[in-house]
Amino acid sequence: MVAPVAAPRGRSRGVVLSLFSLCGWGWVSGQIRYSVLEESEVGTAVGNVAQDLGLKVEQLAGRRLRLGSEESRQHFAVRLDSGVLVVSERLDRERLCGAASSCVLSVQVVAENPLQLFRLEVEILDLNDNSPSFPTARRSLRIAESAAVATRFPLESAQDPDVGTNAVGSYRLNPNSHFSLDVKQLQDGKLFPELVLERALDREERPELQLVLTAVDGGSPARSGTAQITVQVLDINDNAPAFDRATYKVQIPENTPVGALLLQLNASDPDEGPNGETQYSFGVHTSEAVRRLFALDPHSGEVRVSGELDFEESPFYEIHVRARDRGVPEMEGHCVLQVEVEDANDNPPEVLLTSLLNPVPEDTPPETVVGLFNVRDRDSGANGDVSLEISPSVPFAVRSLQNHFSLVTRQSLDRETTSQYVVQLIAQDGGSPALTTSLTLLLNVSDVNDNPPRFLQPSYDAFVPENSPPGSLLCTVSASDPDDGDNSLLVYSIEGHVQGAPASSYVHINPNDGNLYAQRTFDFELLQVLPISVAVRDSGSLPLHANVTVYIFVLDQNDHSPTILHPAGNGDVPTPERVPLSAPPGYLVTKVTAVDADAGYNAWLSYRLLPESTEPSLFHVSQYTGEVRTARVLRDTDVAVQQLLILVADNGDPPLSTTVTISVALEEEALEESYKPRDFLAGAKEKPDLTLYLIIALAAVSTVALATVTLLAAWCLRRRGRAAASPRCCWAAESPSRDFFNHSSPNDFLFVKPFSHSSTAETVAAYEQVTSTLASPCDGVRDGGSRSVAKLVKSHLQNKNLGQLYPFLFALVIASTSRIIL
Ligand SMILES: *[C@@H]1O[C@H](CO)[C@@H](O)[C@H](O)[C@H]1NC(C)=O
Ligand SMILES: *[C@@H]1O[C@H](CO)[C@@H](O)[C@H](O)[C@H]1NC(C)=O
Repeated sequence: MVAPVAAPRGRSRGVVLSLFSLCGWGWVSGQIRYSVLEESEVGTAVGNVAQDLGLKVEQLAGRRLRLGSEESRQHFAVRLDSGVLVVSERLDRERLCGAASSCVLSVQVVAENPLQLFRLEVEILDLNDNSPSFPTARRSLRIAESAAVATRFPLESAQDPDVGTNAVGSYRLNPNSHFSLDVKQLQDGKLFPELVLERALDREERPELQLVLTAVDGGSPARSGTAQITVQVLDINDNAPAFDRATYKVQIPENTPVGALLLQLNASDPDEGPNGETQYSFGVHTSEAVRRLFALDPHSGEVRVSGELDFEESPFYEIHVRARDRGVPEMEGHCVLQVEVEDANDNPPEVLLTSLLNPVPEDTPPETVVGLFNVRDRDSGANGDVSLEISPSVPFAVRSLQNHFSLVTRQSLDRETTSQYVVQLIAQDGGSPALTTSLTLLLNVSDVNDNPPRFLQPSYDAFVPENSPPGSLLCTVSASDPDDGDNSLLVYSIEGHVQGAPASSYVHINPNDGNLYAQRTFDFELLQVLPISVAVRDSGSLPLHANVTVYIFVLDQNDHSPTILHPAGNGDVPTPERVPLSAPPGYLVTKVTAVDADAGYNAWLSYRLLPESTEPSLFHVSQYTGEVRTARVLRDTDVAVQQLLILVADNGDPPLSTTVTISVALEEEALEESYKPRDFLAGAKEKPDLTLYLIIALAAVSTVALATVTLLAAWCLRRRGRAAASPRCCWAAESPSRDFFNHSSPNDFLFVKPFSHSSTAETVAAYEQVTSTLASPCDGVRDGGSRSVAKLVKSHLQNKNLGQLYPFLFALVIASTSRIIL
């Protein structure tokens, strides 16, 4: 529309006259221009076209005046009756011309007869018929709460199709607490509103603000439009999670089961979304132990027991807890959880042996400390109070000094009685129920050399046949020592002297086993009894001794032949015995006297007439006495000089013998008295003064004997009392000497018969009997022996058998005396 207007303007050469009125007209040379207000009523006259074109009203119909273009006809119409251009429809300037500041419509008028084309311009004048409006009536603005003061937020401008003063002239903002409005004017005059933050936002205080922006135009009356602006305050993580309290205190018994709830923590964070999502975790100061023993749920804040709580390990825990939100950057709050663990009696007492004297020497005096203990209980209070008890049956006691205990001896010890003690210590605490611990000690008692060795017998008898080769075992002495180890390691030795020579030159002893060996050959005829002192000592550092006497009895062997004392031996020509022919049978011719250096049976001689004699039937030789008597009446026919061959044999095994030759001369006259003085025994009975003499002697001897027997008995009783403890006291009962006596001649009782045979034999036999009786005076059998000696003496006295009693008593006295001396 504008372009067609411009084109005729270029061609017009005249002045354009414009007349503005409600229905103004313009006189324009070559160009007519009208103006009309928009929104005018239909039929409103724009201008008188006929008049302005110089046409007559009456000609109008004839010339068929009309509007040339369709567009023109749409807006306007020409009244043929008046030639006035009227508005044929409602005109909206904003629709026809938009935002252009001037709006001119080109109108063509056509007239026929002659055909003429006229151009008109109609300017449509603006009317304030539009209110400012915002493209978005409701807007929301998201602003972080952290936005700085004075930050600007551009807003949409309002639109107003009206132009000029009718367009938007100003903006207003409703009063509010945070924002102000600033309007910028661009060079083209357009206005741009901006929000300016005047005061910091806080989502937690006001999450949302409602603003109303009003645009006002400059028309009169002014029109306005509004827009609703909702300011959403965006959350910023500006709040840290906060706990109710900075410190929590909790008490919990030890041994609380795993999983038990300790406490539920709660931290609040007013921020929203992730900024307010709280997660719990242990703080950086949390110890490793706490992490092991407690569990913290990151979401719920529950603190639970997750390990074995042990009061003894730690009675107190401090848990640092951190609550952290998930904002960016994250913020955190802290609290401390103080956990007190309460003690339970869950620890038995402990007994620690710090030192122990083991083994304990047996000479340790009472109240000596042999062990030190520490006792402790990891519980506290009464749960940790410990008492220590000891088994009552041992000689040890416990002494205490606070928690230190010592083990002392209660009485003296004796290893020989008890060498080992099982000591049980029981520690008990004061909890309820109480816990106990027991400790068992094996205490050894070590040996001290406090016991001397002891021989098993008070004395020893050994028997060795004479002429035995050196080296033969004589006997074994044995001692015992109840001590231990070296203290009981015994060494035997020979002590002292015998007949001026060291005793060890007679016998040798094995130092280890106590075997006693002969060092030389013994001769009974020189030495019958050899008392040897044997010592034993143990091998302790201070050795202890004992000694014992070993009596070595040399046993006789038949190593001597009988020796003829009468008649005188060979070499000299024997003096013939003279026998009167008138001698009756039984006449004592002579008596052969022989001795044997041996003892006992070996010296028990018997006499026999050998058949080699001149006339063996003429004489009789007493087997035991050696008396040679005539066997019958002598006759003249008998050979005048008789040779008698007499065999003197001892009773040894094998027997040894000697022969003697006696010559007997048978004579008419013979000196009967010649032999008498020598026949001591035969004559005794016949001479009363000799008998009297013997009785006196006997009485004296008997008194001495009786006194001796009494003394012996007393001594025996005393010694038996001392030796009663030794069961081996009777050892000698099995001695070879006894065998020897018992078996040599089973049919003859040694002590009765031999006395009548030979004075030497009788003395020796009596000596042997008495010595054997005295060898062990405490022996019951020997007591019987003593009694039999007394009985024998008594029977001899009763029978007045003084000839036999005398040598017996003599031997008794000698033996007793020698025994006492020994
Ligand atoms: C205690 O004696 C026993 C044997 O009786 C022995 O096995 C143990 O080793 C001894 N203990 C000490 C400490 O001497
Ligand atoms: C043998 O023991 C006795 C006491 O029993 C003592 O008097 C004597 O001196 C001891 N002799 C030796 C050589 O030890």
